[in-house]
Amino acid sequence: MEVVTTRDELHRLRRELAVSHHDKHFERPLIGLVPTLGALHAGHRALIERMAEECDVSIVSVFVNPLQFGAGEDLERYPRTLELDLRVCQAAGADLVYAPPVDEVYADGFATSVAVNKLTERWCGAGRPGHFQGVTTVVAKLFNACDPDRAYFGEKDYQQLRVVERMTRDLEFNVEIVACPTVRERDGLAISSRNQYLSASERDVAPRLHEALERLAACFSGGVHDVKSLIVEAKHVLDECRHVQFKLEYLAVVDPQTLEPRERAEYGDRVLIAASIGSTRLIDNLALTGGELAD
Ligand code: PAJ
Repeated sequence: MEVVTTRDELHRLRRELAVSHHDKHFERPLIGLVPTLGALHAGHRALIERMAEECDVSIVSVFVNPLQFGAGEDLERYPRTLELDLRVCQAAGADLVYAPPVDEVYADGFATSVAVNKLTERWCGAGRPGHFQGVTTVVAKLFNACDPDRAYFGEKDYQQLRVVERMTRDLEFNVEIVACPTVRERDGLAISSRNQYLSASERDVAPRLHEALERLAACFSGGVHDVKSLIVEAKHVLDECRHVQFKLEYLAVVDPQTLEPRERAEYGDRVLIAASIGSTRLIDNLALTGGELAD
């Protein structure tokens, strides 16, 4: 596995890896990319393993993108663990890691941004102004720098996945976006680099987010389709978070493509949740399946 920190080295190695593959196989190699902020965990590992299985050349980018962190967010305390990250990448089958410093990505005078409208107005877009613009700007740059055929994104960040798909289509990037299922801890908590900020008592209640989604999905399967009623049910689960500092930011049933909120839930809709536990903001989501009966 090769590790590079500049675009020049990236281009040179990407070409070399692609050419050596081509020599062996006489066909155009399939290049994969998993963009990350580092602090790699089992969720990232699943994406990298899948890429390594499906692609001829597998690239992981590790870059804590300052543009997507708002004022007062956790840019400074975001964990930076490059040595460990490289081990995860190697074990998961990556060929090339691109870990640039900030000034390699945002040179002096950088003044361009990529913004996806509509899809970014609600949910995390409302709670974190500028966040998705930071994400789409860096992902567009990473697509240009790495020139992948496929890029792998987690469903864990569901709105981000939809926003990146939209950008890819709208700007005609020749990249296939591959959605990968959310990897969870045994107790259901979606794995996130931010979970390590949680105190022991906060960690104890964190799985309630996923349980609330599951309760809502179970009620849907049981025939309740009115979203207000579904949300009341899910909130009963969140009541158990009272003994820590808990603030629900949003809980909604949305159209899985447009992310517009529903009044009546339909098969295939997505339930989205965001909440702060202490000073840690967590998100999760679940697809609504089952539920043929009407209320
Ligand atoms: P990061 O939070 O590091 O996540 C990188 C990728 O891993 C994202 O596609 C995310 O959805 C996926 N991921 C994280 N936790 C996961 C889990 N538990 N199960 C499955 N996939 C998971 O998302 C970002 O970085 C950044 O916004 C980025 C796209 C790299 C742009 O800077």
